[in-house]
Amino acid sequence: MMKVIESIAEMAEISRQVHLRNQRLGFVPTMGYLHEGHLSLMRVARQDSDILAVSIFVNPTQFAPGEDFEKYPRNFEGDQVLCRQEGVDILFYPAAQEMYKPDHKTYVITDQLAARLCGIRRPTHFQGVTTIVAKLFNIIQPDLAVFGQKDAQQILIIRRMVEDLNFPVKIMVAPIIREADGLAMSSRNKYLTPDLRTKALVLNRALREAERLIQGGEKKTRIIEESMLGMIRMVPEVRLDYLAIVDSNNLEPVAEIKSNTLIDLAAYLGTTRLIDNVLIT
Ligand code: PAJ
Repeated sequence: MMKVIESIAEMAEISRQVHLRNQRLGFVPTMGYLHEGHLSLMRVARQDSDILAVSIFVNPTQFAPGEDFEKYPRNFEGDQVLCRQEGVDILFYPAAQEMYKPDHKTYVITDQLAARLCGIRRPTHFQGVTTIVAKLFNIIQPDLAVFGQKDAQQILIIRRMVEDLNFPVKIMVAPIIREADGLAMSSRNKYLTPDLRTKALVLNRALREAERLIQGGEKKTRIIEESMLGMIRMVPEVRLDYLAIVDSNNLEPVAEIKSNTLIDLAAYLGTTRLIDNVLIT
């Protein structure tokens, strides 16, 4: 039976009991409106844990004023059904007032990494992410936590935080899950009109083109970037925020493709912001 827990104290007590029984606690943090991408993380976590905890919390501190916090899609009933089907043991579903007291003052900041790529347009986003993930780790005390490669910068920042602040948790990464036509799954895809959704496919097409060039021996990132930009510019509805070819370990731009190069992009379609990436291994 899946337990739905709304209180921090109750969640912490259950976690304590799990550890007293010497069971391994796996954790998948989410903002809900679950799709196959989220479920794939639960399956990865499940394999390595006795007890599987999932959180659903639309975290206000990672949205800036004017972003989509209020209209972020929510479907708690449907999410519960999916979690039950995936064999989730604990669904942590706190209210915003439970997670953030009115006098909340403390944030976890990851210098530099959080200012690049998505952080240029969203300068306070990642401190919201690291703060809530730190809180969730402290409350749930997981042995392992699974994150999606879809949010490549988020993974790097969480790994940095875990190492720098000595969180005793193993971070695991699961691959990007896509729709049949290649669009990376995202809760925000719901915002797209059918027309914009079709237009958005150019983002994945450009990433596939980059992979094709690299497989053909192209090493110069300038050439790859130009080819991708050429494709994306053909679709004027896609307003590119950034296209970056960087070292996935530090997000520094690279002139030549090598192992662990991340090709990362973000774009607006109308007001909807989408991200996608490919990691060259
Ligand atoms: P959310 O966007 O709900 O994503 C939760 C987790 O699902 C993240 O680790 C994300 O990378 C992963 N995910 C989303 N779409 C995916 C896809 N198509 N394929 C694979 N994994 C995918 O990321 C967040 O929430 C928040 O920032 C959070 C970490 C919960 C902190 O609030």
